[in-house]
Amino acid sequence: MTTQAVLLEKWADEPIDHTTREDWMNWSNWIRQSHRWLSMAFTLAVIANFVAMTQGTPPLWVTYSPLAPLALLLFTGLYLFALPYLRRKP
Ligand code: HEM
Repeated sequence: MTTQAVLLEKWADEPIDHTTREDWMNWSNWIRQSHRWLSMAFTLAVIANFVAMTQGTPPLWVTYSPLAPLALLLFTGLYLFALPYLRRKP
């Protein structure tokens, strides 16, 4: 049996430990991807505001639409900022 196969067999019986480095990395990656896509949503909402303003005063929901993705960007961004300091030594 290869070393990999032996390890896979061993891990199959072990309960999942949610504090492992891999699990931590998955979570961080998920936050980073969310931040990336939220930035696109935010950008589109800002562009929509400029477009809407060419037609006079835009409705309030258009004016405020960038605030929702921006609020989420703030929290995910602060988390990304803290990541290098939270990271445990290997
Ligand atoms: C609201 C407060 C925000 C905070 C505190 C924040 C913070 C951060 C931090 C710390 C990173 C990771 C930098 C690194 O480790 O290399 C990051 C990445 C990034 N931010 Fe923000 N950000 C904010 C808002 C925004 C906005 C408004 C946009 C664009 C519209 C944006 C777009 C991005 C993108 C595209 C990345 C790269 C993501 C990746 O690595 O794939 N962020 N941000």
